[in-house]
Amino acid sequence: MEKLSLIATASFGMEAIVKREVQMLGFDVLIVSNGKVEFAATPDEIPRANLWLRAADRVLLKMGEFKALTFDELFEQTKALPWENWITQDGKFTVTGSAVRSTLGSVRACQAITKKAVVERLKEGYETEWFDETGPEFTIKVSLLKDIATLTIDTSGSGLHKRGYRTQAGEAALKETLAAALVQLSFYTKERLLIDPMCGSGTILIEAALMARNIAPGLNRKFASERWPGISRTAWVSARNAARKAINREGELQIVGYDIDEEAIRASKINAKNAGVGKDIRFEKKDVKDLWIDKPDGIIISNPPYGVKMGEFQELNQIYISIHKTFKKKKGWSVYILTADKKFPDYFKRAQPDRVRKLFNANLEVNYYQYFGERPK
Ligand SMILES: C[S@@+](CC[C@H](N)C(=O)[O-])C[C@H]1O[C@@H](n2cnc3c(N)ncnc32)[C@H](O)[C@@H]1O
Repeated sequence: MEKLSLIATASFGMEAIVKREVQMLGFDVLIVSNGKVEFAATPDEIPRANLWLRAADRVLLKMGEFKALTFDELFEQTKALPWENWITQDGKFTVTGSAVRSTLGSVRACQAITKKAVVERLKEGYETEWFDETGPEFTIKVSLLKDIATLTIDTSGSGLHKRGYRTQAGEAALKETLAAALVQLSFYTKERLLIDPMCGSGTILIEAALMARNIAPGLNRKFASERWPGISRTAWVSARNAARKAINREGELQIVGYDIDEEAIRASKINAKNAGVGKDIRFEKKDVKDLWIDKPDGIIISNPPYGVKMGEFQELNQIYISIHKTFKKKKGWSVYILTADKKFPDYFKRAQPDRVRKLFNANLEVNYYQYFGERPK
């Protein structure tokens, strides 16, 4: 089957994680650039990429890439692409866009030109003047970066972070894709003890349990390309069946979530149950100040509240001091903290962080402070 170029989009700082995921799925990575991991796949492999990628935002089908300095160039080269291979005669399509450091700086104009070019192409391809747009959805994106236009169609639909399990999102809940990346960066494996002492709606721990159980994160949701005739029905059915078969329920997991807020604990339990890992995570109401650890090794991954007001800063300091007190002598524990507060390392003085990774939580710049524990015996 003919190979296409797909693009797994990634948030800032997560490209290397997404690249590794793409490789682990057995795809050949072609190029990694800012926010993008481009890889080769057949049309019938699109379902597997969508079902299994944990940290990527979306999977896009790359239709073409070319230099465009004028609207004419954009129009002609867009029109030259074989849109009718993918977009059905009754297809409903929208065009989104972005333009960074490019001569064609007006995103709205680029979107309008692209739409016009695609319509012209489809009119010729289908020999019709009228499209009723009642069929499957196609979201085209025209992205201009330094005068290079990349034309894609979104195979995912809603972003891949929408797994479908988080019916109870607490305030300041992390995106599921970011939570999955944090777990991957922690070297968590299913034999290890993992605690999130400020678990909110449970996202980090649920993502860890999904990985430990080898549950495809997209198993319980729909994707835009499910209705595309360019991908066979059987490809979707067999990718879903294979994902169901791959689930591994063997052994017990040691995953524990605490939060001071009763409501957060209730939400976490519901979310974990929705995700199919309700029995794998123990949630309990607890103040981080009362956290007591008797095991010699384990992993903490957490995302404390970000203080904005003065009173909150004092509360935050207390939280940091508690983490310091609990883990300063527990050298077997790896501690991973995601926060926008650059003062965290001043409080957690066990050692300098082994790594600090800059990431984005929604639009907020955050740091992931990584303190590796000694290897478990
Ligand atoms: C930023 S949220 C965590 C969001 C979570 N990662 C998620 O994806 O839903 C911070 C959480 O810390 C909890 N928290 C605040 N102070 C706490 C304390 N002293 N002990 C335990 N949890 C606390 C809050 O109730 C809140 O749920």
